[in-house]
Amino acid sequence: MPSSSIAVFGLGYVGCVTAACLAETGHQVTGVDRDAHKVQNVREGRAPFYEPGLEEIVKSNAASGRLRACQTAAEGLEHASIALICVGTPSEPNGNMSLDQLRRVTQEIAAELDKRPRPLIVAIRSTVFPGTCEEVVLPAFRHLPEVRVVSNPEFLREGSAVRDFREPPLTVVGGDDPAAVQTVAGIYEGLGSAPCLVALRTAEMIKYACNAFHAVKISFANEIGALCDRLEVPGQEVMATLCRDTKLNISPAYLRPGFAFGGSCLPKDLRAVNYRASRLDLKVPMLESVMQSNHEHLARAMRRVDQLQGRIGIVGLAFKENTDDLRESPVVALLEHLLGKGRELRVWDPHIRLESIYGANRDYILNSIPHIGKLLAANLSELVSWGAEHLVLTQKPSEQLQGELAASGRPVVDLAGWLN
Ligand SMILES: NC(=O)c1ccc[n+]([C@@H]2O[C@H](COP(=O)([O-])OP(=O)(O)OC[C@H]3O[C@@H](n4cnc5c(N)ncnc54)[C@H](O)[C@@H]3O)[C@@H](O)[C@H]2O)c1
Repeated sequence: MPSSSIAVFGLGYVGCVTAACLAETGHQVTGVDRDAHKVQNVREGRAPFYEPGLEEIVKSNAASGRLRACQTAAEGLEHASIALICVGTPSEPNGNMSLDQLRRVTQEIAAELDKRPRPLIVAIRSTVFPGTCEEVVLPAFRHLPEVRVVSNPEFLREGSAVRDFREPPLTVVGGDDPAAVQTVAGIYEGLGSAPCLVALRTAEMIKYACNAFHAVKISFANEIGALCDRLEVPGQEVMATLCRDTKLNISPAYLRPGFAFGGSCLPKDLRAVNYRASRLDLKVPMLESVMQSNHEHLARAMRRVDQLQGRIGIVGLAFKENTDDLRESPVVALLEHLLGKGRELRVWDPHIRLESIYGANRDYILNSIPHIGKLLAANLSELVSWGAEHLVLTQKPSEQLQGELAASGRPVVDLAGWLN
C-alpha cells in the first residue's frame, strides 16, 4: 500500500482512532485539534480518552514519528495531500445536526490554502446530512481549483473502534472526481473491505441509513424481547433463532425500497401482535407504527400515480410476483383509489385469471372491486392496445416482462423498484 501524508482534523473518538490506525498502517499522519489537552496527549504518546487498544498504537506511532499532533491548520497541512475531517456534528435542540465545527474547520483549511495554494483532497469523515458537502464544504473551496472534496463516512463503534478500523464493516467513498475518490479509497487498502465508490450525496446518505437501521434493529429486538417477557417465552432464544435464518431474516431480503407490503400474512400477524401486546398493557410503538408506515407508503404511491395523465395500465395485481393471492394486496387498494377518482384503468397480472381463483381469495377481490373482471387484461399487449398511456409496475418483473415493458414504448412508473 503506498503511504500518504494525511492531516486528520479533530482528535475525538473518530479522529484519534483514525489518525493512530492510519499511522499504524504506514501513513504519515498529523492530527489537528483545537483542544490543547488532546494534542498534548497524542504528542506524549497517550490516548486522549479510553478506547481499547488505542493507547498502545498512539504510543508506538508517536514514538516512531509517524503520528504527530498540532493545533493549527497551517502545521497540519504542511505536508498533507489528504485532509480527513473528523470534527463533531452534535445535535441541535430541534434534532438537526450542528455544522458549526465543520464550517469552522473548512474555513480554517481554506484560509491556509489561500496563503499557500496547493493540491488537497478534503475528505469528510464526520456524519453529515446528504447535500452538506455540496452546500457547505464545496463552496468554501470553490475559489481553490486544486481542492477536491469527497465524502468518506466512518462506521466504527466506540468500544471496538480500533478493531472496527482494522476490520471495517464497510468502506464508502463518494465524490465526483474519480481520481480523488480512488486516492481516498487507497488509504484503506489492505483492510479487507472492498470500498464502495458512490456519488457524494449517496455516501452521505449511506451513513444515515446504516445508523437508522441499527437503531431500528435494536428497538425491534427490544420490543420482541419485551413481548416475550410478558408471554414468559425466552426472548434471547427467540431472537437467536430468528438470526439463524440467513435467507429471509439476516440477509438482503426485504431491504430494497419498493412497493407497500400486503398479502395474507404480514398485515394479519402484525395486527395480532399489536392487539395482544395492547391487551398485555405493553407498548410496542415501533411495531405499532409499521402498519401506519405501510399505509403512508401506499399513499405516496397513490399520489404518484394520481399525477399521470390519461389511461393507466397496472402491471401486477397480487401483493407480490408469482402468486395469485389477492388478499390484502396493496394493488387492490390502489385500484380502488384510482376507480374512486374516476380514472380509466386496466390491470394485468401474469398469474391471475378470475376463473381460476376461488374461495377467500375470490371473495376478497369481488368484495373490493365487484367489476374486476371487466378491468382484467389477458396480457401486456392488451393493456397497450386498449390505450394505456402509462404502465404502473407493482411487482418484481421477470426478465421476460422487463423486455416486454421496454418494448411496449410506454413510460413505466416503477413502484416496485426493480427497473433501475
Ligand atoms: N463517536 C462515534 O462512535 C462515531 C462513529 C462514526 C461516526 N461518528 C461521527 O464522526 C464525527 C466525530 O465524532 P466524534 O465522536 O469523534 O466527535 P468528538 O466530539 O469526540 O470529536 C470532535 C473533535 O473535533 C475537534 N474540533 C472541532 N473543531 C475543530 C477545528 N476547527 N479544528 C480541529 N479540531 C476541531 C474537537 O475539539 C473534538 O476533539 C461526528 O460527525 C460523528 O457523528 C462518530
